Formats: sequence, structure tokens, C-alpha cells
Amino acid sequence: MKKTFSIAIDGPAGAGKSTIAKALAKALDAMYLDTGAMYRAFGLAMLRMGVDVNDAAAVAAHVGRMNIAVDYVDGGQRIYIDCEDVTGAIRSPEVSAAASAVSAVPEVRTEMVALQRRIAEGHNVIMDGRDIGTVVLPNATLKVYLTASAEVRADRRCRELEEKGTPQPYEQVLREIRERDWRDSHRDASPLRAAEDAVTVDTSDLSLDESVAALRALAEKTCG
Ligand code: DC
Repeated sequence: MKKTFSIAIDGPAGAGKSTIAKALAKALDAMYLDTGAMYRAFGLAMLRMGVDVNDAAAVAAHVGRMNIAVDYVDGGQRIYIDCEDVTGAIRSPEVSAAASAVSAVPEVRTEMVALQRRIAEGHNVIMDGRDIGTVVLPNATLKVYLTASAEVRADRRCRELEEKGTPQPYEQVLREIRERDWRDSHRDASPLRAAEDAVTVDTSDLSLDESVAALRALAEKTCG
């Protein structure tokens, strides 16, 4: 199929990016790429190797030494480190913190951005992350900055963790979200921020269906 559009969805952790992006990709018959999964896979690999994720030089030394790959099985994205499927293993709170730390290392970002652009080539794509509209797809057809209050995001994350059978106290989840927001938006390399031409959508008071409908309306207006 000829490529006709790309949609960039950026925003802080827990704003609903991946759930909304997935639903939108299905509705528009586009490829969905969760770029955070790549930083998570890299972070997981560092944890397993015993590398200090806050030591930028030590982390940078591992760039290019492992093969991070993405595949789609039954419409769902799977992520691999050197052919091992780590899709489930990257979702723990430890890996979230490690991903945030390694994503601040410029060499890691350069490798991931190149991989993301390669995967998206030739496809109608919806990508979510922190730097999609600002760095990865600067010419995206539509750029959305998806956000919600930290309290609402912590509440959603708590419910998700509970459903997975791994509940965490609300105060802890809120603290972790605030820490990650701060780190993601204060790093030197591609900090989290809305692209100048992004449309901001605050989902604090929107249900999932309402959020998807809001983005779908934007996509129909811009992507034809
Ligand atoms: O979206 P997520 O929570 O799975 O992302 C994990 C971490 O990776 C997050 O703390 C920030 C980082 N990230 C990034 O820096 N750039 C992206 N495009 C996606 C994620």
C-alpha cells in the first residue's frame, strides 16, 4: 500500500498513548509502533548485564552490541533482544525506571530513532513516544501531544497494575510518575515536549472511547 500518512503521538507516561494509538491504528488500518518498548528492552538488557543505568558512558558502550527487533504477531507488537521475546518482561516498574535512565543517553537515542524510522518506512504509521513529533517524524501528517494530570495517570496505572495482579500503593505510583515526568522532560537529549505544530489533547476528563474519538476526528481532518 502506498504510504499516505504518519501520526505522531507524544506525551508523559500513563496519558493513554499506547491504548489510544492502538485503537486508532486499528480504525485507520495503519501500523502501530510503541517506541517506548525499545527503550524498555534496552533498559532490561542493561539490568540483566548488571550495567549501572545511570552511568551514561557504560550504557553507551553497549549501543550496537545487541539486536533489538520488533515484530507483529496477531496484530500485536512483540519486542526481542537477540531473538528472545521480552514483550512481557519489559513491563515491570524496575524496567520503567531503567528505560527512562537509558533513554537520556544520546547514543541510545540515535540508534533507536534510526530503527524507528526504518520500521516505519513505506507504511501508514502511528507512533507513540516522547520525541516522535519533534525528532523521529518531524514531517508527520498529524502530531498529537496527549496528556492528563499526574493524579489521573497514577490512578489509571494503579488500576492496570491491579488487573495484572501486581498492585502497588497509589502514593508510590504517583511518586514514580512524577519522577519519570521530571527525568523525561529535563534531559538534554530530545526532552519530552510538545512539538510546536502538535495539537494538545488532555484526557483527564475523557473516557478511552472519547479519547479515541477525539483523535479519530483529528486524523480524519488531516489524514484524509
Ligand atoms: O512510553 P513508555 O513508558 O513505555 O517509555 C519508557 C521510557 O522510554 C520513558 O521513560 C521515556 C522513554 N522514551 C523516550 O525517551 N522516547 C520515546 N520515543 C519513547 C520512550
